[in-house]
Amino acid sequence: MQLAASQRASLDWLTDIGARHHLVTFRPSVVFVDLLTETAPQILIRAANRVGKTRHVAWLVAKRMVEQPGYRARVVGPTHSHIHKVLGKYLADFLTPYLAPGSRYVHGKGWGSGRVDTIILANGSTCELKSLKDDVEAHSGTSLHLVAMDEPPTPEHYVENAARVMDTGGQLIVAATMVGRSVRWLRELVQGKGEVDAPAGRTMHPSGWLQIVAQFSRANCPWYSQEQVEQWLEVMRASAWQWAQRIEAAWDGVTLERLFTGVSERTFTFDDPEGRSRIGLGIDHGEVQGHQAAVLVAYTGTRTFVIDEYLNEIATTPEEDAHAILQMLAAHRIDPTHMDIAVGDLNTSKGFAGYSVNEALQEAFAQQLHRKTPPFVIQPADKARGSVDWGLRCINAAALRGELQVHHRCHHLSQCLKHWKGTTRGEDGKLAHIADAFRYVLVAAIGSHASYARLRFD
Ligand SMILES: Nc1ncnc2c1ncn2[C@@H]1O[C@H](COP(=O)(O)OP(=O)(O)O)[C@@H](O)[C@H]1O
Ligand SMILES: [Mg+2]
Repeated sequence: MQLAASQRASLDWLTDIGARHHLVTFRPSVVFVDLLTETAPQILIRAANRVGKTRHVAWLVAKRMVEQPGYRARVVGPTHSHIHKVLGKYLADFLTPYLAPGSRYVHGKGWGSGRVDTIILANGSTCELKSLKDDVEAHSGTSLHLVAMDEPPTPEHYVENAARVMDTGGQLIVAATMVGRSVRWLRELVQGKGEVDAPAGRTMHPSGWLQIVAQFSRANCPWYSQEQVEQWLEVMRASAWQWAQRIEAAWDGVTLERLFTGVSERTFTFDDPEGRSRIGLGIDHGEVQGHQAAVLVAYTGTRTFVIDEYLNEIATTPEEDAHAILQMLAAHRIDPTHMDIAVGDLNTSKGFAGYSVNEALQEAFAQQLHRKTPPFVIQPADKARGSVDWGLRCINAAALRGELQVHHRCHHLSQCLKHWKGTTRGEDGKLAHIADAFRYVLVAAIGSHASYARLRFD
């Protein structure tokens, strides 16, 4: 069908109106639709990842600001970047048509290019943007009608923000997935000590808190396609230890007998890899002297074969470690100059005379091979936010998918894959070092393939 120019112009105009009025067209999830009219002074939204916590918080804040001239709101997020680029972006979607002159969102940078900490509407309503990275003092100040905290606050930030709504009879909302943070204080504050955990849905507690529990499901998030839902569940199956918190919105993760539930007998083999592969080496230097661990792998596409390992639990020098690693390579007839990737933990506290441990190791390799330059470069391990869980998820997913093979000679890694509970202390903690060395090299080897890259989030 051909549209006349005037018809096209009308259509563009309508599309533009639609885009500009997200606040009108937004369809809240069934679990959050009543949020707007809830009057409880304190609300905890305990919800799964990706059920729309942040977007619904932004919607609520925006709606109140637009409908009640002179409304004073505040949003609190974990980092400056979050409040400007994630939460701030959602707020911009909703508020753009209502802004006062001079209040401006810059795409990719944030409010006032990330330099402004108050959003001002033409009707006089305001919203402060605060980060948990700022001192508690930065959260003091005037009284407010609404404070919305995206992700659990520290107890200190909570107290300071609760005080902001005290004399206005205002409302404080916390929206969070309970992963990776100590939230016992919040749990006791909301539910009381020893009270049973609130079930899915809406619970009014004697403490005065309203708790809304939202699990991840197609019904709760109708904007996802069945395929998107399946894909996310597949990602989470790779980390069974977080399933309860990230999908079922539980307070605690389940305590697993072992972390790598995808590992089974078929993960281990006495065979050697067939065909041509690339070679990779992962090294963990440990936090204290000793505990050096190295894992040698062969990989092709998304398949990984663990050839051998080196573990030393007593204090060793870089020379001794280099010697042991070279012996391991020699045992498998691998020319050190043919190493495709080597990744080493970045551990500055164990530097030698200004060198990082990786540099010291490289030097030792060069010396022992009588070369002027190191046979290969040891790149620093990825330590960014979310990298640990991503690496663990990659290991487990590779095992689940049958893309990981480990030779039986890798005694420590086998112990780790079969028994490690994921802790870093005591007996169990001894298995952590080899897991670190393995995930460093595994993500460097296969992490860029889409099926593994998408296991990364946070
Ligand atoms: N009511 C809704 N309608 C359409 N898309 C939504 C809705 N709520 C959330 N989303 C989308 O779902 C995704 C996850 O939302 P987000 O608020 O970031 O989740 P959470 O904070 O719970 O992890 C985002 O892409 C967001 O835009
Ligand atoms: Mg969020």
